[in-house]
Amino acid sequence: MTAPASGDSIRRRLLIWLLAALVSLGVVALFDTWREAVATANTVSDRVLAGSALAIAERVVVSENGTLEVDIPYVALEMLTSAAQDRVFYRVDGPQGTFVTGYETLPTIANHPGEGSAFADAEFRGEKIRLAALGRSASTGISSVPFVVTVAETTIARGQLSETILLRSALRLAILIAVAAAVVWFAVAASLSPLARLGAAIARRSPSDLHPIDEAVPAEVRGLVDTVNSFMARLGTALAGLRHFTGNASHQLRTPLAIMRTQFALSARADTLAAAREAARTGDAAVAHAERVLAQLLLLAKIEETATERAMQRVELAALARAATAERIPEARAAGIDLGFEGHEPVTIRAEPLLVGELIGNLIGNALAYAGRGAEVTVRVAIRSGRAVLEVEDNGPGIPPERLDTARRRFWRGPDPQRPGAGLGLPIVEEIATLFNGALALAPGSRGGLSATVTLPVAATPEPATAA
Ligand SMILES: Nc1ncnc2c1ncn2[C@@H]1O[C@H](COP(=O)(O)OP(=O)(O)OP(=O)(O)O)[C@@H](O)[C@H]1O
Ligand SMILES: [Mg+2]
Repeated sequence: MTAPASGDSIRRRLLIWLLAALVSLGVVALFDTWREAVATANTVSDRVLAGSALAIAERVVVSENGTLEVDIPYVALEMLTSAAQDRVFYRVDGPQGTFVTGYETLPTIANHPGEGSAFADAEFRGEKIRLAALGRSASTGISSVPFVVTVAETTIARGQLSETILLRSALRLAILIAVAAAVVWFAVAASLSPLARLGAAIARRSPSDLHPIDEAVPAEVRGLVDTVNSFMARLGTALAGLRHFTGNASHQLRTPLAIMRTQFALSARADTLAAAREAARTGDAAVAHAERVLAQLLLLAKIEETATERAMQRVELAALARAATAERIPEARAAGIDLGFEGHEPVTIRAEPLLVGELIGNLIGNALAYAGRGAEVTVRVAIRSGRAVLEVEDNGPGIPPERLDTARRRFWRGPDPQRPGAGLGLPIVEEIATLFNGALALAPGSRGGLSATVTLPVAATPEPATAA
């Protein structure tokens, strides 16, 4: 037995879930790391930028004619050019924004506070730059002249630094995800190995071995195993029932076969023609009995398979019962029984018509067989309390009340087992009724005898066909 190739696997599912979760978390973490890296790179480089602005500011002096003069110390800019690709710019501005020296086109920070440093991002000559502006004043001894030193550098080194940080954490994350995936891969294999053992243990069993599975399994699988165990227990009960039934059935057939053999032997050894005829008659009755048993057994086997949902249809019970009754009138007349039908309104049920026919036939057959000469048998169809009711009532000897339950059992036959009957009619009626969500009730008839009543759900009225 192979499993249907659904392509589904616990391992794949777990991996997909885990990877989806890890990757989403990873993306969030990387985004956070990126922001952190940029901030760190900025802080570090800003400090250097501020230092170099300070170094320049310290070299700003006021000349004798009152103008500002700067002697740019090369160390001041050198400390910035450690990252070779970056370029460095500066400018010094005097009071009211008068340009003193440096790159005149270099942007400055507007609204710069008089003293202290400020930072900003800007663009210069088509490149991204970071600006640091430092406000100071140079003193002549009499007056002090305020000025602003602006130092800028391109941001290549900063970008590289944050990129390196980002790449490293991405790599760490990728390794983490790969390791987690590998762990899941092997952990699932290890966790599922008890299932493989369980499968092997079941495969080793003989088909008749329905003992509960007692293999050690993980707690998650325990429920499944319990379900299988309870299923096997039910299967065991059903199989035992079937074995019992088969035993009974073969016994029911063996008896008439034995009678036939005896009668054949008797007729072969008979001295007179009359004795041979008598033996043949008895043998023939045994054949009829075997025939009946076989017919009923076949019908019983057919009940379940016939009533598929597709075979179910709307059945007019009253018409069906009326026809079935009419069919049996010659037989009833021969048996000296007055067979009649009562039912004035159509009663529609949902069922399989052949099985309903067998149900009615069995009930009428019983009445004709057991009510006795001179009896009256009435077949009724009506709706009572919203349910379809089929009743076959006779005024024969009936079944004693304490035997009414027993009469439903398979192979139970009344006090006169010589009559040809399989003892399966009432069980068949009950099974068919149950199949169509109905029930069989046996009760003493209103005028003695037996009343066998089958109640069934009335079919829902069909939607009226809408005219186009
Ligand atoms: N209308 C009835 N009046 C009296 N006894 C009945 C009536 N219907 C059934 N019985 C008793 O119940 C027994 C069981 O009936 P059931 O129809 O199950 O089996 P059967 O008639 O013996 O065999 P078959 O399977 O051929 O119908 C009968 O043998 C008979 O003794
Ligand atoms: Mg019967």
